[in-house]
Amino acid sequence: MNPLVPQVATIKNIVVETPDVRTFVVEPDHGQTFAYRPGQCAMVSVFGVGEAMLSISSTARRGGPLEFSVKRVGRVTGALHEAEPGHRIGVRGPYGNHFPVEDWAGSNLLFIGGGIGLAPLRALINHCLDERRRYGKFDIIYGARSPQDLCFQGELMENWPRAEDVGVHLTVDAADGDWKGAVALVPHFLEKLGPSPEGTTAITCGPPIMIKYTLASLKKLGFSDHQIVTTLELKMQCGIGKCGRCNIGSKYVCVDGPVFTYAQLKELPQEY
Ligand SMILES: Cc1cc2nc3c(=O)[nH]c(=O)nc-3n(C[C@H](O)[C@H](O)[C@H](O)COP(=O)(O)OP(=O)(O)OC[C@H]3O[C@@H](n4cnc5c(N)ncnc54)[C@H](O)[C@@H]3O)c2cc1C
Ligand code: FES
Repeated sequence: MNPLVPQVATIKNIVVETPDVRTFVVEPDHGQTFAYRPGQCAMVSVFGVGEAMLSISSTARRGGPLEFSVKRVGRVTGALHEAEPGHRIGVRGPYGNHFPVEDWAGSNLLFIGGGIGLAPLRALINHCLDERRRYGKFDIIYGARSPQDLCFQGELMENWPRAEDVGVHLTVDAADGDWKGAVALVPHFLEKLGPSPEGTTAITCGPPIMIKYTLASLKKLGFSDHQIVTTLELKMQCGIGKCGRCNIGSKYVCVDGPVFTYAQLKELPQEY
């Protein structure tokens, strides 16, 4: 089968997460949903418009349809936001590596997300929660521009805080009248919370600027480069290491990433 040919799929449901983020619940028209791991992506096409690489925000081990949580930024994401349930789209994948969950057995997990960066972390958090006893304590730090920009509020406010030994810590850049939580940028909030690096793996996803300062804050807190895992979001076209659109030095982010430890990132030319 040509790996560049998408499978035709139907949008079964659309969940409005925030004013500019929607989660699309998608099922292939023929055959089964492909197998995937947390952190992997797929290329989603709106016919006649184009394709966009998106993290898979559902968790494969829970069964059920694929989910993509999409921020409206341009042509393809804008066309997706205009779509209704029943609309046909294309999906090809899964692409990229995945979070190395097997390496984290026994470790405390510190998830740090910003904005739509919670999409791949959601898949990961739910995967790890389903294997809760393999890991130590979970802390989820998540920030958005404003309270109404917090994605996955059902999970953030209800499911995750109720799970055993899970701390959820929310922050916003700017509060509104009802917000009683923290008002701080994610890296500052992280430093204030001051999690111990002892036996902990930190996983961070978000806008590049947030990742840059979060990595610096984690280093300040004493995390080693090997204890920090992040994802890169370079522009992509083929998704299979052929077009050269996403390379950094000798690595193709679509194949060798998007998940990297900070130690691995430091070995790459600083082009990202
Ligand atoms: C591995 C990976 C995982 C991703 N996961 C998600 C996800 O789960 N949810 C989500 O909403 N988005 C995700 N993205 C980003 C998404 O691919 C882009 O937002 C999308 O391709 C934009 O397409 P568009 O046609 O709507 O925008 P365009 O019309 O092509 O561009 C609109 C604007 O967005 C910028 N832009 C386009 N693509 C990117 C990109 N990859 N990174 C930064 N800026 C970009 C353009 O420069 C332009 O300024 C991911 C990207 C990668 C590489
Ligand atoms: S997107 Fe084509 S090589 Fe990575």
